[in-house]
Amino acid sequence: MRVQANLGDWTLDNVPLERVNCAAMQSRLDLFYLVNAASFVEIAAELYTQNLVSYFSADAEISSWLRDQWQHEETRHGRVLRAYAQHVWPDFDWARAYSEFLTDYSQQCTVEALEATQGLELVARCVVETGTATYYESLAAHADEPVLRGIAMRIRADEINHYKHFYRYFRKYQQRENQGRLTILRAIARRVVEARNGDAQCALRHVDAVRDPGANAETSQKLYIQFAASLRHDYPFDMAVKMALKPLGLPAALNHIVRLPLVWAGTRCLLN
Ligand SMILES: [Fe+2]
Ligand SMILES: [Fe+2]
Repeated sequence: MRVQANLGDWTLDNVPLERVNCAAMQSRLDLFYLVNAASFVEIAAELYTQNLVSYFSADAEISSWLRDQWQHEETRHGRVLRAYAQHVWPDFDWARAYSEFLTDYSQQCTVEALEATQGLELVARCVVETGTATYYESLAAHADEPVLRGIAMRIRADEINHYKHFYRYFRKYQQRENQGRLTILRAIARRVVEARNGDAQCALRHVDAVRDPGANAETSQKLYIQFAASLRHDYPFDMAVKMALKPLGLPAALNHIVRLPLVWAGTRCLLN
């Protein structure tokens, strides 16, 4: 199901939490996990922004955009999701779970984890923003609570805007790096594989560890699979493939030929 944007009369700085039917949300364990885990990864943007700013320190345009706009918007996403989660599920010890997540996650966010060239790192950032934009689109479709749906749609719009910035910067670097399509495709694939094993699972594991003292890596992995399954019917595969492949700059006809089987394979992979 595609969600039509109905952005109403509020912004991410002014979310009408009083309109949320908290009693009805208590039974939505899936949304409890999905919202809390997303808030962790978004707020932690501060960590990897520093790495990216250092990497692009010689480029005033990119480093100032990262510092002054992008980081600010990512942490705002996290703060809004945290406010929503704490309003709806006040018994959850968010601060403790986040602190434990941060200790774990900060070991993954190193300058060494960046791509070998700036242009390829911008390709990787396009893939990350594709992942977040499509995640929030599916969350908006999956959440039948209007305030959460509104939050997800607003964040989705920001993530698409981030993608456009990173893509434009990639084009600038590609003029001097002139990377071949195979090299770009490898950078895309590396980030897709990392995304499958990375941030979201780490966040979910720490949400689970605090919510359920009996949790372990195996139970958290089962939850992750269960929640991925609950989002898959609303996942915009076509949008994901289109955005992720765009840095390849394929001719329109070839792009169409490549896209269809990838959308089909992605849909089968997640729906079976
Ligand atoms: Fe974000
Ligand atoms: Fe983003």
